Amino acid sequence: LGTGPLAGKRVLVTSGPTHEPIDPVRYIANRSSGAQGTALAAALRDLGAEVVFVTGPATVPPPDGVHLHRVETAGEMLLAVEAALPVDAAVFAAAVADWRVENDVAQKIKKNAHALPEIKLSENPDILKTVCAHAKRPRLVVGFAAETENVIAHATAKRQRKGCDWIVANDVSPATGIMGGANNTVHLISEAGHEDWPSLPKQEVARRLAARIAEALA
Ligand code: C5P
Repeated sequence: LGTGPLAGKRVLVTSGPTHEPIDPVRYIANRSSGAQGTALAAALRDLGAEVVFVTGPATVPPPDGVHLHRVETAGEMLLAVEAALPVDAAVFAAAVADWRVENDVAQKIKKNAHALPEIKLSENPDILKTVCAHAKRPRLVVGFAAETENVIAHATAKRQRKGCDWIVANDVSPATGIMGGANNTVHLISEAGHEDWPSLPKQEVARRLAARIAEALA
């Protein structure tokens, strides 16, 4: 059995992007690398937690010493997350695609000189929101908010709307270099208000967050 402040605690982390297929060879994706979610899972593991790590197709490799569930789509991520409950805490670091392709097809779409293919979108399930309203809601639910403007205001509203305890908000404007980069500048938003953290390596953001989670579960 593990030692450390999170020994005996089970924590779920989602990470990475999701891919939403258009056909067998094409998909809709986003620029999430999975770096912050992976660092967080490793930090929680290092504090002794049993970590369930549900990851989309990330560019960084998953950490060792976690229960690893690889998924591709948001639909698959929701199923893996619900199957992992109950947990003591859940952190939703994944950049889940908001939409999936409703008319995805089993064969590769052929180029047609006369017509462009039409991609019809439908809304994906909101995994964070679903877990916040779940009969097996974890004691502590932490969401992320990637914003490009009015970061604190948008993230504060998001915390309310989703029903989670904390939101870790960051500015992902291209000029910040945060998406795919080594550092992150986050704001921790809770019922008490917001804390502005300095720019730190994603591993250090992860260590501080893991320590806060341990404190909240103690
Ligand atoms: O609404 P928005 O996508 O900005 O919310 C971000 C937060 O919600 C993140 O924690 C993300 O992992 C989670 N989320 C989710 N399922 C979705 C969309 C977002 O779990 N379909």
